[in-house]
Amino acid sequence: MRKINVFDTTLRDGEQSAGVNLNFEEKIEIAKQLERLGVDIIEAGFPASSKGDFNSVKAIADLIKGSSVTGLARSKQSDIDAAWEALKGGEEPRIHVFVATSPIHMEYKLKMTPDQVVETAVASVKYAASKFHHVQWSAEDASRSDFAFLAQIIEEVIQAGATVINLPDTVGYTTPQEIKNMFLYLKEHVPSIDKAILSTHNHDDLGMAVANSLAAIQAGANQVECTINGIGERAGNAALEEIAVALNIRKDHYQADTGLTLKEIKRTSSLVSKLTGMVVPNNKAVVGQNAFAHESGIHQDGVLKNKETYEIITPELVGVSSNSMVLGKHSGRHAFKEKLKELGFTGTEDQLNRIFKSFKDLADKKKEIT
Ligand code: KIV
Ligand code: ZN
Repeated sequence: MRKINVFDTTLRDGEQSAGVNLNFEEKIEIAKQLERLGVDIIEAGFPASSKGDFNSVKAIADLIKGSSVTGLARSKQSDIDAAWEALKGGEEPRIHVFVATSPIHMEYKLKMTPDQVVETAVASVKYAASKFHHVQWSAEDASRSDFAFLAQIIEEVIQAGATVINLPDTVGYTTPQEIKNMFLYLKEHVPSIDKAILSTHNHDDLGMAVANSLAAIQAGANQVECTINGIGERAGNAALEEIAVALNIRKDHYQADTGLTLKEIKRTSSLVSKLTGMVVPNNKAVVGQNAFAHESGIHQDGVLKNKETYEIITPELVGVSSNSMVLGKHSGRHAFKEKLKELGFTGTEDQLNRIFKSFKDLADKKKEIT
């Protein structure tokens, strides 16, 4: 069983969600909960971006001992210096430095030639490695980059001291098969690839961030970058809870797992939702309010006879105390009777028949009976 490192970027990429602005205390509270959840790496922010980010990254690095803390930096000495000042007090200081490698980003955003991008990347990694023991380098927009160019630049940054190579699908454009091809290509064409840990980072513009992350893991990524509830730029990032639970439930298939304390998932999700103001949809996998709710009579009857008929994840696994049988017009007599029992009511068959009929009449007028 491979162990996959979980790199949580809720406090950096997640905080880049439109309309989200966490204050200092809120970031500390989330970082402590991420530590309890057992994430391997917390990306606490982007120290050079503002005084507020610098202060919170520094406080988190100084405080958190159970997870490694990192911060983002552009390929500039001043960003790397700011990251060092913020992170140097941590248990295991690590930096995340990046530059874009796709033709469109290099030409229009950076206004650099590919050779200049290689030179910039190598210089930034060398400088970062002169301070940090762990240097993660990201090829922004990797999935839309030329793979031969990616192979060349990755070899050079590994030689320069990068210990983790992260390959983001920055705009959520790629597909599971394509991301696999990218990782497999690079494993074959980068001579020093085994000297670095491969990492995947996916955005959800086409709704494939989690599927792409899992595909990258299958193709050799040993680190996955994600956010709680999938919050992040535009349509968000890959959802940590979905990846972690998919790996756990389908260990047979992926032959890989995380070291997370899964029963902290629900609590972490609720905390992040409350502090960011980003509501979790009821039907969201793993953490949505309806994720363990059974409404139809056929399903309720099955679950009461044997939970595994319709439940592949136990609510307890992710810290939800029990499943919730929602009583509505599709509910059957079996679930209705169980609910009455749970509420402390018993009665004769005749009484049950009468009250069940009243319940059905009411259920035709109301969505949910409480
Ligand atoms: O999506 C992305 O490319 C990023 C990088 C900064 C890693 O968030
Ligand atoms: Zn991102």
